[in-house]
Amino acid sequence: MPRYLVTGGAGFVGSHIVAALCDRGDEVVIFDNLSTGHRAAVPAGVRLIEADLASQQAVDDALADGKWDAVLHFAALSLVGDSMRTPLYYLQANIGNGLRLIDACIRNGVPRFILSSTAALFGMPDRTPIDELARIDPGNPYGESKLVLERALFWADQIHGLRSAVLRYFNAAGSDPDGRLGEDHRPETHLVPLAIDAAMGRRPPLQVFGTDYPTPDGTCIRDYVHVSDLATAHLAALDQLDDRSVTYNLGSANGHSVLDVLRSVERVGGRPVPHTMAPRRPGDPPVLVAASGKITAETGWQPRFAALDDIVATAWRWREAHPHGYC
Ligand code: UFG
Repeated sequence: MPRYLVTGGAGFVGSHIVAALCDRGDEVVIFDNLSTGHRAAVPAGVRLIEADLASQQAVDDALADGKWDAVLHFAALSLVGDSMRTPLYYLQANIGNGLRLIDACIRNGVPRFILSSTAALFGMPDRTPIDELARIDPGNPYGESKLVLERALFWADQIHGLRSAVLRYFNAAGSDPDGRLGEDHRPETHLVPLAIDAAMGRRPPLQVFGTDYPTPDGTCIRDYVHVSDLATAHLAALDQLDDRSVTYNLGSANGHSVLDVLRSVERVGGRPVPHTMAPRRPGDPPVLVAASGKITAETGWQPRFAALDDIVATAWRWREAHPHGYC
């Protein structure tokens, strides 16, 4: 039975990948410090190593504990806005922890590695949709930290033969269609859960960050991809790593403005989303839409939830059933 170590496996994206691996009968161990992840997101029967990637000892102990078929690395600081306020903290944490983990994989003979990367490394893209050959120029320290890890994996492959899949997510949204998992960040900063909570009357009106962008309605355009579709993409990418490394952009190839998302929440929930117009949020590019043709051509992967309303509907159901999140 394949055996995987998943860092950040109790977090939003990581927990959905853990569920997908468990669903197909693989053995999974989660390495998570629970700083943003949730114990309740760890499935019954899955071992949780509650530890920090900053600890060399903890990382070495985990990697030396038996044979691993791959390490999947999700644990990271991941907020663009925060990274603009505390850049050195972001760079040190994400790069330091990532390099420590990659090095331990090499020393312990782990053959494959998956890096959760980001569209944030394209900064202000020079073309859209964004394919894997688009110019890379991170517009914020968060994106920069992922870029350094992408380059580290390039050299880990060249010199040590560690095969890797770099998966650059656009905007992960939605939640497990079976209702087992959901999105619960504290504090929450992401558009879809905030808009749903505003519609449910659980939060103040949503602030629309910026209405003067060069887009048709003046608000930012993003590519929302269902988190369970990200999960199937990870399974597909793992199968590619026998004799090469791969890099894929992962989105649904559809751009939606902030106001489009609010309208979708209103359609799904049948209630208005109270909102106010606010200034731009520093670090936000106007448009980020993925060209995901490469992973589709090479693996056959297709998003199951292509329509925004379907993505929002899964998120709405989870938040309705879990008014206080995971607690
Ligand atoms: N937005 C608002 N009001 C809010 C929250 C968000 O208008 O209260 C807007 C943002 O300005 C942005 C859009 O909604 O235009 C999406 O914002 P999110 O915070 O939901 O997501 P981001 O696009 O900032 O970032 C997400 C991930 C990053 C990843 C990026 C890649 O959080 O880790 O997608 O596209 F790098």
